[in-house]
Amino acid sequence: MDPRPIGVFDSGLGGLTCVTHLLRVMPKERVVYFGDTARTPYGSKGVDTIRHFSREIVAFLVEHDCKAIMIACNTVSSIALDDLRQQFPKLPIVGIIEPVVAELAAKYQTEQQVKAAVIGTKVTIESGIYPRLFQEALPGFKLASQACPLFVPLIEEGLKDHAMMDLAIHYYLDDFLAEGEITDLILGCTHYHLIQERLRRIYPKLNIFSPANAQVEALRQVLTEQGLLAGEVSEVEPAGENLFYASDLSGSYRKMIADIVQDQSAKIKFKNLSL
Ligand code: DGL
Repeated sequence: MDPRPIGVFDSGLGGLTCVTHLLRVMPKERVVYFGDTARTPYGSKGVDTIRHFSREIVAFLVEHDCKAIMIACNTVSSIALDDLRQQFPKLPIVGIIEPVVAELAAKYQTEQQVKAAVIGTKVTIESGIYPRLFQEALPGFKLASQACPLFVPLIEEGLKDHAMMDLAIHYYLDDFLAEGEITDLILGCTHYHLIQERLRRIYPKLNIFSPANAQVEALRQVLTEQGLLAGEVSEVEPAGENLFYASDLSGSYRKMIADIVQDQSAKIKFKNLSL
């Protein structure tokens, strides 16, 4: 049993959607979250820059004595996972892409009519990691892909419920989904979870998959195998507090963090890694 926290990070607020799921599945665990809100979005930046930022964040989470890391960001997982595992060889690090591909590839083995696609940031889509992993798991399976670079800035600006969000969705997806006759859509960016309901409303026939569930299950397996799960929580020994860091912390970010984790008294702190 290990009471130390799990470190979770993302370029911004999207990864918080994975934290809510993690705490729902493993309520005894404690989380230290880092959202790099000062340097978001990552999805249009260079590979070396993203690797550098990711190393800084993991080093910061290690200072908080985190027992494992969950990368709640597809962009980082697509191009920095191996690098992070090399830099921090003793630390269990769980990415977000492999678990969902493994889950869906097993499901698609028996489903003939599926036409699947992934949407994500430019970096994630250009990395080609989703189609490549599907090919390895399910030879011959074709996965369509589409970058939607405006989605993250709109969400980080607090505009996810604005008509502009709908315009961006129609702009990137109407033709793409129709021409590919897409039946299944993977949200290959944790921010997109926050517009899931809008996507469902606009494309009601589409099956939409968010990778957070598969990732949290993969994390749970790693913690179990390595004897790192937190112990029992009781009234005498309640679970410790979760901590949320952001590298830019305006009032609107504070509010969005508290809203997404559904905890208005969440402990939210500022930490700028580039100072
Ligand atoms: N949530 C990140 C992801 O899953 C967004 C990346 C960005 O900052 O552009 O890819």
